[in-house]
Amino acid sequence: MSAMAVLGWRTLWSLFVCFTVLRTNALSVTMSESTMEVVRGDYIILPCSFSTYSPLSRLNIIWTLAPFSSPESPFQVIVYDHGQIIEDPSLIGRVGFTDLPLRADIMINDTRVSDAGVYRCMVNNPPEAADPGIGELLLTVLVAPSLPACRWDGEVDAGGSVTLSCSVAEGIPTPEIRWDKLNPEEISLPINMEGELSGSVQIINVSAQTSGLYRCSASNLLGTENCYINLSIYSAGSESSSGILQGVLLTLSMSLMLSALLVLVTWLHRTGRDGRWRVSKGEEEEEEGYNEIRYTPSLIKRSFV
Ligand SMILES: *[C@@H]1O[C@H](CO)[C@@H](O)[C@H](O)[C@H]1NC(C)=O
Ligand SMILES: *[C@@H]1O[C@H](CO)[C@@H](O)[C@H](O)[C@H]1NC(C)=O
Ligand SMILES: *[C@@H]1O[C@H](CO)[C@@H](O)[C@H](O)[C@H]1NC(C)=O
Repeated sequence: MSAMAVLGWRTLWSLFVCFTVLRTNALSVTMSESTMEVVRGDYIILPCSFSTYSPLSRLNIIWTLAPFSSPESPFQVIVYDHGQIIEDPSLIGRVGFTDLPLRADIMINDTRVSDAGVYRCMVNNPPEAADPGIGELLLTVLVAPSLPACRWDGEVDAGGSVTLSCSVAEGIPTPEIRWDKLNPEEISLPINMEGELSGSVQIINVSAQTSGLYRCSASNLLGTENCYINLSIYSAGSESSSGILQGVLLTLSMSLMLSALLVLVTWLHRTGRDGRWRVSKGEEEEEEGYNEIRYTPSLIKRSFV
């Protein structure tokens, strides 16, 4: 009997302890997510739930943000206090509670890069103590790479060196930059990064084979954007060979003219020396010529008839 009583008292005591613990730690906040991602411009709901045993008449919720851009200066995004809602000016019209007063979730519309950071959801429901009354989550705002800008610089004559550079203005996560030569077959080129958002390729001692289409691509998990450079190397080799060809042609035509002149001179010289031969030859030629001329009108007539 006394053993039973002891057991009874013990049970009561442990129930009392439990109740006290529950009472003192009554309000607790839980964040179902610790990290979240949203694509810039989309909306997101940041979940924050709490459990309390007291009436919600004095419920107080504060959401703060420590932006990645300035983690040392957190600010209050939205506050619910005594039934009133106060929003930070930078988020006015874009932020709101979704399930008051049952949950502390907030929705952010038209997200911006500046919305990224560490969010804290703090819930108080006096007179209940809150331990822990704070939940934390990390929000990343993703941005697709912007269109990269391709540039080239250097000597495009054979033997020179050319630098191809590419820079991308934005993208979260930081876009990966790569350069590829697309023809005759696609090959990846070694790239020198200048900061996180631009990369260049240096090609030394360029030759005709260096000519071709080059592509810079900036990509992250949201997509890829490309820019192109069509490089034409002026090969000194082909220039000189065409020069040689031209020289050869010029020499050829000049020697032809010269030989023609020589023939003419020789002929004139011979006709000058032998006039009679020239006359008789000339008459023959004239007769032949006359015959041809005599024939022509009839031919013409015939063709007209
Ligand atoms: C966000 O946009 C949706 C749909 O356009 C709208 O229903 C909701 O009220 C907006 N939320 C806030 C906090 O502005
Ligand atoms: C440049 O390339 C040509 C052929 O492509 C080669 O003959 C020459 O030795 C190279 N010059 C240098 C300085 O590498
Ligand atoms: C690149 O340039 C060459 C010669 O200038 C031209 O024949 C070729 O079509 C160009 N290619 C592209 C893709 O523009």
